[in-house]
Amino acid sequence: MTLLAKAYTNIALIKYWGKKNHHLKIPFNSSLSVTLDAFYTETTVTYLDDLTEDVFFLDDVEVQGNEKSRVVQFMDEVRRRYHIESFAKIESWNHVPKAAGLASSASAFAALALAATEGLDLDVQALSRLARFGSGSASRSLYPGFVVWHEGVDDATSVATPIDMEPWDDFRMIVCLENQSIKPFSSTEAMHDTETTSPYFNAWVQQTKKDLRAMVPAVQKRDIKAVGVLAQTNAMAMHASLLAINRWYFEPESLRIMNIVRELQKEIPVYFTMDAGPNVKIMTTAPYVDQVCDALKDVEYVVARPLKEFSID
Ligand code: PMV
Repeated sequence: MTLLAKAYTNIALIKYWGKKNHHLKIPFNSSLSVTLDAFYTETTVTYLDDLTEDVFFLDDVEVQGNEKSRVVQFMDEVRRRYHIESFAKIESWNHVPKAAGLASSASAFAALALAATEGLDLDVQALSRLARFGSGSASRSLYPGFVVWHEGVDDATSVATPIDMEPWDDFRMIVCLENQSIKPFSSTEAMHDTETTSPYFNAWVQQTKKDLRAMVPAVQKRDIKAVGVLAQTNAMAMHASLLAINRWYFEPESLRIMNIVRELQKEIPVYFTMDAGPNVKIMTTAPYVDQVCDALKDVEYVVARPLKEFSID
């Protein structure tokens, strides 16, 4: 029977933005994320001897072009690593608003890594490394809760592990769905341009290393104020490195929500982060969710929690 593999998306509190090895997706710095319970991808991979190429269906529609090429490239790597001869039928269902900075590639490649290697009995570290090959952030989606992707120096060492801590039950991420249209440029392209041309790229990498050192104990202490301030500042630093090369993902609605959060911040622990897309994600704890949602008024949003359990079996 074919496995229906499921993986959840994650949002980085300390961002990955820049690769020192493009082919293997080895980042310039380690990153830290929280895996959310609200958004996921389900995938099946069926190897069929009579296929002459991979076929890929997303939400029941056959996909061609760049999106398919990325999946085929990943499948070629799976075949190379695990000596598989056949092409495959890949079917995926995304329960994530696509390509709007909600890291759909994270859940997508984590689910694909699981489905494509069913029966091979890979451990979670091998799966995290394989998922990384599809999309850097996918390496973190093999675990629930708070996760660090260690930059490493090569394929074997660039891998994610969960943070050793008690579950943080009242952490909440309010994901605003203000704009679900396709983003103006891909994260891969923007990341590469930042690495090669942004005058702030080195400063970003150095600052992020410091931010991560401070973030791990803040998460372990479940200190929303320290976590929120670090996450918001780190996200803004990433976007600053991009702004310096005339690129941005902010839309008027993103700024409007950021301003709402800034006002609320004067009274309660509430912070925002933003990825390679216009959607703002708001961090707070359970007692403040109603107050934040009231202030968001006409914004569409989903309140997500850290995913508690995730099994790769
Ligand atoms: O994994 P990618 O190639 O989709 O890049 C993810 C980049 C950010 O979402 C902006 C940051 C991160 O660490 O997830």
